[in-house]
Amino acid sequence: MSKHLHLVGLVGSLRSRSYNLGLMEAARELLPPGLDLESLPLGMIPPYNEDIRAGGFPEPVAELRQKIGAADGVLIATPEYNYSYSGILKNAIDWVSRPPDQPFLDKPVAIMGASPTLFGTVRAQMHLRQVFIYLDAKLLQRPEIIVPDAAHKFDAAGHLTDPTTRDLLKTWLLAFEQWIRRLTP
Ligand SMILES: Cc1cc2nc3c(=O)[nH]c(=O)nc-3n(C[C@H](O)[C@H](O)[C@H](O)COP(=O)(O)O)c2cc1C
Repeated sequence: MSKHLHLVGLVGSLRSRSYNLGLMEAARELLPPGLDLESLPLGMIPPYNEDIRAGGFPEPVAELRQKIGAADGVLIATPEYNYSYSGILKNAIDWVSRPPDQPFLDKPVAIMGASPTLFGTVRAQMHLRQVFIYLDAKLLQRPEIIVPDAAHKFDAAGHLTDPTTRDLLKTWLLAFEQWIRRLTP
């Protein structure tokens, strides 16, 4: 029997009706059997400050680093802000990436994103991929989950209702499971 896989999820928006939060929730609903997903809150992560780090990681950062380090894989749902990913995500990744024991090293990571525009986070995802090259994470390259025109794919409560996107998400999660199992026999 295959090992149970524990995933953690990072959502780069603090908005209560965030499309990207909705995407992460849909991923949880559509997980293959044998996987679970714990969303890690980013709202309590302070702005990065090297002076503070010199005295030790603040508690929310230490917890985030520990949980990412212990996970079998990381899912990220990013909004697109000014053709890039969000500052919330950038700040959290910057904290997590500081030594010792950078927890994204060799970590399976998969990126998705939703936006109301027609380009649906393509540019944000490309920037984020570049960051994970530097951090030596094991990024799932394809398939990709890019959700344009989000206003027509989520209901008023932020639930992903579009059947095609739900099917794609399911396929993507299976591909991520296979990617993790290939990397960690
Ligand atoms: C500061 C800012 C910059 C934005 N820039 C872009 C952009 O470059 N491309 C885009 O598709 N949407 C852009 N948007 C719109 C966001 O995609 C939209 O607000 C989306 O709902 C944010 O994701 P969320 O629903 O998960 O909060 C921007 C929004 C903000 C607040």
